[in-house]
Amino acid sequence: MRKLAAGNWKMNGTAAALDEARTLIAAHPAPTCDMLLCPPATLIAQLSALAKGTSLQVGGQDCHAAASGAHTGDIAAAMLADAGATHVILGHSERRADHGESDADVHAKALAARAAGLIAIICIGETEAQRDAGTTLDVIAAQMASVPVDMTAQNLVIAYEPVWAIGTGRTPTLDQIAEVHAFLRTRLTGRIGTTAAGVRLLYGGSVKPSNAADIFAIPHVDGALVGGASLKAADFGAIVAALSAA
Ligand code: PGA
Repeated sequence: MRKLAAGNWKMNGTAAALDEARTLIAAHPAPTCDMLLCPPATLIAQLSALAKGTSLQVGGQDCHAAASGAHTGDIAAAMLADAGATHVILGHSERRADHGESDADVHAKALAARAAGLIAIICIGETEAQRDAGTTLDVIAAQMASVPVDMTAQNLVIAYEPVWAIGTGRTPTLDQIAEVHAFLRTRLTGRIGTTAAGVRLLYGGSVKPSNAADIFAIPHVDGALVGGASLKAADFGAIVAALSAA
């Protein structure tokens, strides 16, 4: 399987930030993994234009479940595709927390993404309280409800992102990541069948150049979803290089 280094710029970046993408492409013209940046929606069309024909792919950070309609401020999956996106992040913990998105909402968005020809990157992960209570695997199992049962390796990526590791500089131990990813592969197989073997399972939460190689050596870690470190071409490029070498 071709691994995936995905960057999530979150609500960061104006047109000036596109220079980071230009630098990234120039430094990594032919990585042996997929390289994706998900900028704010305002930059998707511009980033897609400059990434056309290069090693860089472009994604959105959310979509609405409906194809169109009276949903002020929202963006349909087909609009992302029209702007040049090939992927969309869904159910990020910040959206689950800030916008009250449920597993059912994420499930509906994944169907919309698939209908528009986008690859859905569905995010799951436990809070610190859940980890401390020893319920991490139960939480992961329950969040499988976000994944439509007829998704395939062609249109689905899963990102395991412990909420407490996002933007904090803290990461689980390598054993803890290994435990969740092995569990995830098994549960995903139960949910979508043998195609689960080809679904990229990303780890996310404080991935940086200094810990990337260790994380990428873990079985069933097929890439990363990177927030803060994706904003700088040098840092994200180092993570791409580590994944290419893994
Ligand atoms: P972080 O964010 O890399 O800044 O921890 C990860 C994410 O939210 O995807």
